[in-house]
Amino acid sequence: MSYEIREQDVLVIGAGGAGLRAAIEASLQGCSVGLVCKSLLGKAHTVMAEGGVAASLGNVDARDTWQVHFRDTMRGGKLLNNWRMAQIHAQESPARVNELEAWGAVFDRTKEGKILQRNFGGHRYPRLAHVGDRTGLEIIRTLQDFAVHQENIEVYMECTITHLLKDGDKICGALGYWRTTGEFILFKAKAVVIATGGVGKSYRITSNSWEYTGDGQALACRAGADLMDMEFLQFHPTGMVWPLSVKGTLVTEGVRGEGGVLKNNKGERFMFKYVPDMFKGEFAETEDEAKRWLAGDKNARRPPELLTRDVVAKAINAEVKAGRGSPHGGVFLDIASQLNAETIKKKLPSMYHQFKELANVDITKEPMEVGPTAHYIMGGIRVEAETAVTTVAGIYAAGEAAAGMHGANRLGGNSLSDLLVFGRRAGLGASQHAKNTTGKLAVDTKQVEEYITQALKPFEQKTGENPFTVMEDLQKAMERCVGIVREEKELVEALQEIAKLKVRAKNVKAQGDKAYNPGWHCCLDLPNMLIVSEAIAKAALERKESRGGHTRIDYPNTEAEFGKINFVIRKKGDELKVATEPLPQMPAELQTIISEDSK
Ligand code: FUM
Repeated sequence: MSYEIREQDVLVIGAGGAGLRAAIEASLQGCSVGLVCKSLLGKAHTVMAEGGVAASLGNVDARDTWQVHFRDTMRGGKLLNNWRMAQIHAQESPARVNELEAWGAVFDRTKEGKILQRNFGGHRYPRLAHVGDRTGLEIIRTLQDFAVHQENIEVYMECTITHLLKDGDKICGALGYWRTTGEFILFKAKAVVIATGGVGKSYRITSNSWEYTGDGQALACRAGADLMDMEFLQFHPTGMVWPLSVKGTLVTEGVRGEGGVLKNNKGERFMFKYVPDMFKGEFAETEDEAKRWLAGDKNARRPPELLTRDVVAKAINAEVKAGRGSPHGGVFLDIASQLNAETIKKKLPSMYHQFKELANVDITKEPMEVGPTAHYIMGGIRVEAETAVTTVAGIYAAGEAAAGMHGANRLGGNSLSDLLVFGRRAGLGASQHAKNTTGKLAVDTKQVEEYITQALKPFEQKTGENPFTVMEDLQKAMERCVGIVREEKELVEALQEIAKLKVRAKNVKAQGDKAYNPGWHCCLDLPNMLIVSEAIAKAALERKESRGGHTRIDYPNTEAEFGKINFVIRKKGDELKVATEPLPQMPAELQTIISEDSK
């Protein structure tokens, strides 16, 4: 059996923001780096964080500090976040944003020439540094430009990793295949960073594109690492609902950040009804107060459209269920009545074009129709806060693939700062590990050949199912039973369905040959999608309460006991087992920051 072999100190799997930042850091530390992307370099879900990157620069409101950012993040995550990650994130984001600026990122500016910051859900002050509504794109462009000029970074595009390889309990590399030719490639490496993003393709309606099949979470889990908080999945409140071909496409929270309002089919601005007790006192109670806030009155409170995403998504869901939805099953998002056409086109250029071209809607004149879309998983691979190392030595994880930073719900804009802060730390941790790893690592070639044979099995099947049918059935089951609101009966049904789908996934058939073959690729993605879906459903069944991105109609309250634990998933043989781990103890001074009503 022949396959290509490459050797690098650090292998970074995934080339979105977290992977790029990790690769840059490892290369700056003097390591040779392999950067693997499933798709083309620059095409990553990072671009779907459109509205901005959160950092307490204090350029628009000098009252902002890392402490307020930390407090907002912990409260947004319903206090289930790893406090140390949230602290590091709040403290280091300003430096990471300034560094991006120094590397050439072109941010929008205040009149004084500082980086402009806008409002976003759950952030007390205008905190999101942005480039119109294309911030993620600008960040990727900047990181990509920096990375491709590093001599010691080798980029492998359109390459998918199928297995992590271990020498005893030490990581020694990974096996992958070129999507274009179907040929296999073996990477030898002393450390691996997983930065593969999320799991959105387990759902039918999602802002994620085809790459997001939970590969990194599944690779890590199979290699013995812990997954954590998998029950917490974020439905972004505003995805397009029409036309059907683009259902789920993101409508940036920046629309609400710039003053956009949500209305039902009765013309009611319904979010005033949905302010949770925890946030009462912080949000405007009348349209008049919300208007004064928008006009810059610092004594007025924020409009309720800027509540956290979990709250807004559930409110929209409730309005639609109550029969107050828009014609295509969403609600109305109206910016036209709040800003003039010129400002809308300047602040939200992508949204203007997206709606004009895809839905023939002019958002400077008419409201958009929007509804929740699966966007981001807060759970993922369990990591240690300082170095981003997983529970397996030599394997690191950062960005959406990692867990802990966002707790039960992520604030918009915190994903971009997360991937910069922890992408850098993962690159640093991995390069230190690589430097400390001496001696030759032995790859078990017999095992590699077995993995290749296993990967080619769909071509050997005489009869077998179309893998896309299995994927579609998984997406339907997840949407129906493990969606925005959940209950025991449906979660059990989801797990039964997943068990059947696992059997079906073993018998999928690929047609044609290995060269660029999406059907075969789907056969190889399916086991990953099934592992993460099972982990989500199992953890959701165990968390008998409602908190953040996890709502149980049979357990509607938030329970103090569940606020003390994370659910951890470990692979034992062929089974995924759920265990509980106590939350790390937070120092008293940080507890004080969270409880004080900092102005
Ligand atoms: O709405 C948005 O622009 C998305 C931002 C994010 O997910 O952080």
